[in-house]
Amino acid sequence: MPTASGPSLTFVGIAGSLRRASYNRGLIRAATEVSPAGTRVVPYDLADIPMYNGDVEAKGDPPPVAAFKRAIAAADALVIATPEYNHCVPGVLKNAIDWASRPARQSVLTDKPVAIMGASTGRGGTARAQAHLRDGLAYTNGLVLPLPEVLVGLAGEKFNDDGNLVDGGTRDEVRDLLVSLAAWTRRLQRFEEEAVAS
Ligand SMILES: Cc1cc2nc3c(=O)[nH]c(=O)nc-3n(C[C@H](O)[C@H](O)[C@H](O)COP(=O)(O)O)c2cc1C
Repeated sequence: MPTASGPSLTFVGIAGSLRRASYNRGLIRAATEVSPAGTRVVPYDLADIPMYNGDVEAKGDPPPVAAFKRAIAAADALVIATPEYNHCVPGVLKNAIDWASRPARQSVLTDKPVAIMGASTGRGGTARAQAHLRDGLAYTNGLVLPLPEVLVGLAGEKFNDDGNLVDGGTRDEVRDLLVSLAAWTRRLQRFEEEAVAS
């Protein structure tokens, strides 16, 4: 649906967990429910992405990788929900980003707007994992939204047993992140249009 501020935007939602009742999958699900007018979040499941192997890549992307890259290319922006494993990004998410980052400098992540959030059972709310993720995405030329940060700590108190986000304040934070991502995406799209026109 076009809005006064521009055409509608599609955000691909990626959770770095394969667990059925994952809190981070729950964050992406909540994002689909609270996305502001003129935006929509489409969840993308990483379960079928194989482990990165340069020999396999040299023969052509496996179909799940090619499909993942197509989804990113078609999206206006990405919203990523990362768990924190040993103060870092889980392998599932890192591996998917590694595939998507190829070929280097010309990948579907180049100039792609990205927003980050994350939920963990600890108090830190994935702060360390998010810092690692920002650092890694810098090398892909992805354009990560600086603020707001959505750090969901003590996740066991904010999600129900099915992994649905039931904490109202956190749902508001997810919505605020998407509002900022929409503004960030539109700003970057305008910048690109002006660069092409000049
Ligand atoms: C291998 C592993 C390492 C973990 N390391 C951390 C950690 O460093 N910090 C933290 O807060 N939680 C840590 N956790 C707990 C996760 O926050 C918790 O399992 C969370 O539910 C994972 O996200 P998910 O619900 O989306 O699967 C770890 C869990 C696993 C399985």
